[in-house]
Amino acid sequence: MDFNGTADEIIGAGFPRIRLAPLPTPLEEAANLSAALKGPRIFFKRDDLTGAGLGGNKVRKLEFVLARAIEEGADTLVVSGGFQSNLARISAAMGARLGLRVELVLGGVPGEPRPVAGNLLLDQLFGAKVTLVDTVVRWDFGNSVQNVVERLQREGRRPFVVPLGGSGPEGMAGYVNATHEMLTQFDELGIRPDYLAVPIGSGGTYSGLMLGALNLEAPYRVLGISVSRTREFLLEKVPVEAAVAAERIGLERVPTADDLLIRDEYLGAGYGEPTQGGTDAIRLVAETEGVLLDPVYSGKCMHGVIDMIRSGEIGADQTVVFLHTGGWPALFAYDPQALGVPNTLAG
Ligand SMILES: Cc1ncc(COP(=O)(O)O)c(C=O)c1O
Repeated sequence: MDFNGTADEIIGAGFPRIRLAPLPTPLEEAANLSAALKGPRIFFKRDDLTGAGLGGNKVRKLEFVLARAIEEGADTLVVSGGFQSNLARISAAMGARLGLRVELVLGGVPGEPRPVAGNLLLDQLFGAKVTLVDTVVRWDFGNSVQNVVERLQREGRRPFVVPLGGSGPEGMAGYVNATHEMLTQFDELGIRPDYLAVPIGSGGTYSGLMLGALNLEAPYRVLGISVSRTREFLLEKVPVEAAVAAERIGLERVPTADDLLIRDEYLGAGYGEPTQGGTDAIRLVAETEGVLLDPVYSGKCMHGVIDMIRSGEIGADQTVVFLHTGGWPALFAYDPQALGVPNTLAG
């Protein structure tokens, strides 16, 4: 692979791209957190600072996905996800900026409260139209997305369905590029990380990072902490989807299940359900570094990292890079008590 060009030249050759993120995102050492854990060197790769709509990992994916939508002549984006979806919020913001209409199909299991707060509030401020649906099996939207597409077509619009999680080859290309960006930063800082930790939802970010790590010969293992699916499910899904993307992007090496380092024991009761370990991790990082994580993704991922440091699986002489994927706007949709903060303070 040609290392002389910029990341754009390597990956962008066959893929249209709209540049919206201020890149590179910062790579910051979290020395106070390392000291508090008596642990390894820890760095945050700040992909929560990718700009559009308060940022997050979805911006790098959408730079490619939305370029494809525009190339195909779309005028409306159809995006599905959970009712606190970060993809929905960022798509709504990017759609507004690009002059595209945005229709969101947001699911939640029946009986779950869905306050208009956090991402669901921001979606509407960005002008997206929201359809809420009950998803008895989470992520199974039945015909709801197709119904919205057909309605839009009847209205004479040209809809483009953003894949779940913004994943797929275009989305993964964003994280192959991010790998190139990080390797340059590691060289500049003179570090050789042992682990790159990332939460796994749909798996697109992890798959893109795995493709990047293998094909750009990164020194670290990509540690994925699942916040939604089981490890077994992901060990099957990631190699298949990564292979499709590798073919489209033009990458030689494809990960097998043996290459993957995936944990699912920090998921707790389920997707979006706060865990004690996740909440403790959010508070520790906020108190030591002034950085916000979230209860759905990054808090659970940091719980995994902290647990592996405490168990000695990640050694004190090692270096961990934590990919901060954003998601903290969801903090404002949670009951403070679920985050370990009292609901009211005495005067
Ligand atoms: C904040 C945050 N972190 C991590 C992820 C997981 O990314 P992926 O769906 O690519 O696995 C998401 C996706 O929903 C997210 O919003």
